[in-house]
Amino acid sequence: MNESTNIHPIFDRLLQRKDREKRLQQNSKVLWLTGLSGSGKSTIAEALERKMYNEGFFAQVLDGDNIRSGINNNLGFTIEDRQENIRRIAEVAKLYLNSGIITLNSFISPTIEIRNFARQIIGKKDFIEIYINTPLEVCETRDVKGLYKKARKGEIKGFTGIDSPYEAPQNPDLEIKTVDMTVEESVEAIFKYIEPIIKL
Ligand code: ADX
Repeated sequence: MNESTNIHPIFDRLLQRKDREKRLQQNSKVLWLTGLSGSGKSTIAEALERKMYNEGFFAQVLDGDNIRSGINNNLGFTIEDRQENIRRIAEVAKLYLNSGIITLNSFISPTIEIRNFARQIIGKKDFIEIYINTPLEVCETRDVKGLYKKARKGEIKGFTGIDSPYEAPQNPDLEIKTVDMTVEESVEAIFKYIEPIIKL
């Protein structure tokens, strides 16, 4: 045996995030969409997921449909439960991140503290905060799920924007004012912002 036996070839080391990013031809990031219930977060995230797919990127939406109904189905809407909701989501997003996959996270994530917590778990350089800014009056008028009406009647307690706080981001990476834009325009604006970042 000669000395070269002790030299570990490059293919022997553990696969890294950058290896997977190279395979997927993208830089993975966590896009964090925050906004009121009914602000359009999930609609925009789903359309953006489709757009990214069509453009050759590999992305996955995380929202109430696949998180609150599954891994977080034991959580409600107290501040503590929302914090735990976001903590678990951030941990899941981090797993995706290290797999090279971009996640589009669509959660109210109502307070600055909660979002800072998520940012801390994920890492500042990979966390892109996007504020889906739709005024409460507009969300309430749309009331797609009929939840604002129930909250006003007191049938739901602790509803965000009614009797539970929503703190708007003070310095988001991007702000989308949905009252002035269609879903397509919102998607275009976000894609234009992130494309140079995710492009390998
Ligand atoms: S978060 O505050 O923990 O980030 P999340 O985005 O997961 O919230 O869930 C919000 C969705 O749950 C709303 O869009 C609405 O459909 C539903 N919901 C049910 N109860 C409440 C409540 N008390 N406050 C806000 N949303 C609620």
